[in-house]
Amino acid sequence: MAVLPITLYGDKILKKKAIRISKVDAKILTLINDMFDTMHNADGMGLAANQVGSHKSIFIFDLSSVKGFEKSKPMVFINPKIVEYSEETRILEEGCLSLPGVRAKVERPTGVKLLYQDIDLKDHMLEDDDLFARVIQHEYDHLQATFFTDRLDDEGKKMVKKLLLRIIARKVEIEYPVTDKGTM
Ligand code: NI
Repeated sequence: MAVLPITLYGDKILKKKAIRISKVDAKILTLINDMFDTMHNADGMGLAANQVGSHKSIFIFDLSSVKGFEKSKPMVFINPKIVEYSEETRILEEGCLSLPGVRAKVERPTGVKLLYQDIDLKDHMLEDDDLFARVIQHEYDHLQATFFTDRLDDEGKKMVKKLLLRIIARKVEIEYPVTDKGTM
């Protein structure tokens, strides 16, 4: 079990699409455990594998620290694919451990249907229209090499640009381990 450095905006791996997993071996199980340690250490709700430097198609989340979701269990999603989006959308503020200090309101479909596999590579389908649906879309975006800031309109993008440049230059205060500039 280990806390890994989190990749930041500007790290190339965050702009590469994730690769499907065909076998869950000890290395992948260690990666998943380390992802939970890393996410909890940074007080995050969700984390994608490329945020700890892996190309694998995995994301995790744990919403038990969120009011109203205390009883929700930590979850692992392998080879996830969103197969359906609701027509209805909602605007909610988002943040991201790879974009420290950046917060912005993002419009997304309210609900999703997600096809994914568990650590035994058994297929599952999850349908949700709550906070889960929001976190799923945010983390799924990471595996498609997309940041929530990519979904902002021109004005929104302009507002976060300066801060993003400071993140690339590591000129921001961050309370958890992150990659060194230019290492990923
Ligand atoms: Ni994120």
